[in-house]
Amino acid sequence: MVPNITPDPDTGIGRWSDAEIAAAIREGRRTDGTLIGPVMPIALYRGLSDRDLMAMVAYLRAVLPVQHALTARSTYPFQLTPYGPPVAGVPDPPEDDPVARGAYLAGPLAHCMDCHTLPLPGERRDWLRIGAGGVPFEVPGGVAVSRNITSSKEYGIKDWTDEQIIRVLTQGISADGRRLAPPMSGRASI
Ligand code: HEC
Repeated sequence: MVPNITPDPDTGIGRWSDAEIAAAIREGRRTDGTLIGPVMPIALYRGLSDRDLMAMVAYLRAVLPVQHALTARSTYPFQLTPYGPPVAGVPDPPEDDPVARGAYLAGPLAHCMDCHTLPLPGERRDWLRIGAGGVPFEVPGGVAVSRNITSSKEYGIKDWTDEQIIRVLTQGISADGRRLAPPMSGRASI
C-alpha cells in the first residue's frame, strides 16, 4: 500500500525532517524505525547522490499537501531485513564518463534495472544477471514481461542502433516496430 508522501502534517510526511525523508528514500527506514519493503527499489536508491536525494526532498516538500489517511498496510510473506549500513554519502556520477553516468541514471535514478532484473526470494534481485528481464507486470487486460536489455546478441539488444534504443524509450516502439505495453508505452503518466 503506497503511503501518502505529500507534506500533509497529519496523514503525510509533513512532520518529517529532511534527514528523515532522505533516510526513507535512500535507506528504506521510516521515522519509527520500521523498514520499507517492495516495490520500493531501495537497493538501487542507496546509490542516489546526496545532491539528487536532497532535490527530491525539496520537491516532496513543494507538492500540494493532501489529507488522505490510509486504512490498509502492506503485508509481506517474509521478514524485511535491513538494506545495509547507513549510507555515508554519495557523490554525483562523473559528467565525463557516459557509462558510469548511464549506470547511475538507469539504476538509482530511473530504476530501469529494477524492473529488468529477476527477483530472488525476499526483497533481493538477481544483480549478477542485471538487465536480463523476465519480470511480469500486471497491466490493464494482461501481463507485460520486462525484456532482456543486456548486450546479449541473441536475446538482448546488442544489435539495436542508438536510434532504436532512443525510440523505445521516448515512444514505446520496439526495434521490430511493436508498440510496447505500459510501463514502457512511452505515454507520460503525469
Ligand atoms: C516498471 C517497470 C519498468 C521500468 C521502470 C522500466 N522498464 Fe523497460 N520494460 C518493462 C516491460 C514490462 C517491458 C516490456 C513491455 C512490452 O512487452 O510491451 C519493457 C521493455 C523495455 C525495452 C524493449 C526491449 C524489447 O526487446 O522490446 C527496453 C529497451 C527497455 N524496456 C529499457 C528500459 C530502460 C532503459 C528503462 C529506464 C529508463 C526501463 N526500461 C524502465 C518494464 C520496465
